Amino acid sequence: MKRQGFFQLSQEAVMKLAENFETPLLVLSLDQIEKNYCFLKAHLPNVRLHYAMKANPDLRILERLSELGSSFDVASDGEIRTLAELGIDGQRMIYANPIKTAGGFRACADAGVSRMTFDSVSEIEKIAKCCPGATVLLRLRIDNTKAHVDLNKKFGAPREQALPLIKLALASGLNAAGIAFHVGSQTTSAEPYLEALEIVRSIYAEAKEQGIDLHVLDIGGGMPVPEPKVRFNLPAMLGQISARLEEDFPNIEIWAEPGRFMCGTAMNLITSVIGVNERNGQTWYFLDDGIYGTFSGVIFDQWDYKLISFKEGTKHKATFAGPSCDSLDIMFRGKMTTTLEVGDLILVPLCGAYTSASATTFNGFHKAQIVIWEEVSVALGITKCLAKAV
Ligand SMILES: Cc1ncc(COP(=O)(O)O)c(C=O)c1O
Repeated sequence: MKRQGFFQLSQEAVMKLAENFETPLLVLSLDQIEKNYCFLKAHLPNVRLHYAMKANPDLRILERLSELGSSFDVASDGEIRTLAELGIDGQRMIYANPIKTAGGFRACADAGVSRMTFDSVSEIEKIAKCCPGATVLLRLRIDNTKAHVDLNKKFGAPREQALPLIKLALASGLNAAGIAFHVGSQTTSAEPYLEALEIVRSIYAEAKEQGIDLHVLDIGGGMPVPEPKVRFNLPAMLGQISARLEEDFPNIEIWAEPGRFMCGTAMNLITSVIGVNERNGQTWYFLDDGIYGTFSGVIFDQWDYKLISFKEGTKHKATFAGPSCDSLDIMFRGKMTTTLEVGDLILVPLCGAYTSASATTFNGFHKAQIVIWEEVSVALGITKCLAKAV
């Protein structure tokens, strides 16, 4: 099967785009989104994919994935209403936030969303009241200290509470159909999934002995994008997960909620150097995008972005800061770079997930404009971009 590729602009493309658009500029490839969806479908063939739109809620991504038949993981009334406005049926959504708001329940009623997760007694009471008869999955806590972003610090019931909570949900008139888990974002090996599946298998067996039919399993997100320092074999990893699902969960409906994987490789940032300074013996470069913008992922996603300047020469350590007046707005310290000047362009590949999604307009700086590669490349006559196989 084909290996995963990612979208990366060539120097020529960066120059042409910067001549025609202001920076900071985000360039999104919808074809790469499609490739990512098809890649996951091919490697997890019996899994119903729900795109976790929190990773990048750009409407054009949602539309493309909807056309491809994807379902969606939503976390709020806003996300539900955004999808509903695109004409996406509530039956294609799972409200996968274990703590839901009153507004979220109203949006569910309006859009016809009836699948959701829970991990507490109080949430069972809320769902039974606001969405009686809903299909619910118990969110199970998975301990995975190796995860890049550990999503189990905040959510998930411990294993020993799983069946009691499922029984309570059933007794409350809910259709408790199974278990959901999330092994943590950017998980680069199959082990955490396999360990989680082993725990779930034992819970499903226990449930069966007690006459409870659990027929759905949601394996969450966590599927990784390429990283400079970590090597992994994604087809092999997904193959192992898929084989285990087939072996241990033969008659169970399997769902997944990939976020980062679907969009992370599909967007590039072009940002400009707007200031240079020497402070305490260190070179500082100021960019026109920062922590409050696309680089919000440095804080919220703990991500280290690759900066490509297309300049030759010896490298030195430098500090990179954003354009705002806040001293928190520093992205990288001691980052190796060639010498840069005001006006130089920097390309940041692999920045489609948890970047523009959490950008703000703090200090009056606008968010980076997002253009679609397949449209602008034709309009500007740019033929070459680099799509790398990894
Ligand atoms: C419930 C849930 N599902 C899916 C995701 C998407 O995770 P990832 O981007 O690692 O695939 C998240 C991320 O926060 C999440 O909280």
